[in-house]
Amino acid sequence: MSDADLGRERLIAAALSAQKNAYTPYSNFCVGASLLTVGGDLFVGCNVENASYGLTICAERAVASAAVAGGSKEFATLAIASPGAVPPCGACRQFLSEFNSALAILLIDVDCPDAIVETTLDVLFPQPFRAGG
Ligand code: THU
Repeated sequence: MSDADLGRERLIAAALSAQKNAYTPYSNFCVGASLLTVGGDLFVGCNVENASYGLTICAERAVASAAVAGGSKEFATLAIASPGAVPPCGACRQFLSEFNSALAILLIDVDCPDAIVETTLDVLFPQPFRAGG
């Protein structure tokens, strides 16, 4: 297996593993995310819900924040594991675009993890907000 394939497999396994840690007593919809940086570091995140529903953080913003806290702002590839391989919500698209508006994204269905959908953030979110236009 090539280094690139190994990196991809590691990324997928990490997203699936993080999905199991999601804290979702209100929606029961568990999302895991993993992020590979240009430097080869790997970060994970999951959704964390709250009794005050609006405080819930999505898996994608959780993993992006973990990467920044870990000193990495050059995002290369994001993997998201969820039931049905859902794409990131609008708020997360804007949040991710801050760091890489063309981020590679792998969407994984936890019930069928071999059928991965590949996309990019510029396809999902072609017109990010930027202060001053
Ligand atoms: N959720 C994510 O983690 N990522 C998204 O892009 C959309 C939604 C979470 C938030 C909430 O905990 C649950 O999924 C249901 O909306």
